[in-house]
Amino acid sequence: MPVRSAIMTVMTRAAEKAGRALRRDFGEVEQLQVSMKGPADFVSQADRKSEKLLHEELSRARPGYGFVGEEGTDEKGDGEHRWIVDPLDGTTNFLHGIPHWAVSIALQKGGEIVAGVVYDPVKDEMFWGEKGMGAYLNATRLRVSRRSELHTALLATGIPFKGSKYWESFLKELQSVMLKIAGVRRMGTASLDLAYVAAGRYDGYWERGIHPWDVAAGLLLVKEAGGFAASMDKGGDPVYGRSIITTNAALHASLRELLGTG
Ligand code: IPD
Ligand code: CA
Repeated sequence: MPVRSAIMTVMTRAAEKAGRALRRDFGEVEQLQVSMKGPADFVSQADRKSEKLLHEELSRARPGYGFVGEEGTDEKGDGEHRWIVDPLDGTTNFLHGIPHWAVSIALQKGGEIVAGVVYDPVKDEMFWGEKGMGAYLNATRLRVSRRSELHTALLATGIPFKGSKYWESFLKELQSVMLKIAGVRRMGTASLDLAYVAAGRYDGYWERGIHPWDVAAGLLLVKEAGGFAASMDKGGDPVYGRSIITTNAALHASLRELLGTG
């Protein structure tokens, strides 16, 4: 059983607590859906409640750390440490009663992501990792896949919404990828897409238009599991640069070439 550090214990406990609350709300959504009441407001409330809970938990454990969350919390803190939080990643899945969504928490220290947690409360899968210490799924060490031939690769992606400036480039990328690989998945939860690359379930993942809270924790997991992660844009930052490509070690060069990212 790997030993979780003090900071990792703080992060996983906070994710579990938020996950328990969201799971209760998810049950409600399923009922609301059945009664056709339209659960959108309820879901955004659940999302905001989750961010509040995570902010309280993390700030209590580490007063002074900065905090940025998808739902709008933005605190500078000590300027050195910062939580980057997606309180409910996969909102559309949640809204539709699809059991594939997550809580994502990353810790940035001095400009670098040093710890990450992606928790899937429905499956009770806790993906966690710390810089230099490896990545885990519950108690099992994670390694990216070993697949080295494009035609056997299964990739995940996200589809930019219609009208987005990334729409056209995405369609081109999808076409060139689909001609060469075994399959593409669009599961709707970026943090889990990354966690699944770390776990070797997917051989890679790419997406344009994403935000730091979608990817910060998952990126660390991929790196700690022996994978590659980069921005799709030359010189771009993978966390803050709004585009990302991650793969196992063997497919990195060929996938980048296929996607035209050099
Ligand atoms: C979205 C999901 C989705 C990804 C989008 C994200 P949200 O986050 O992670 O998979 O394709 O780019 O915005 O809105 O469900 O928290
Ligand atoms: Ca998100």
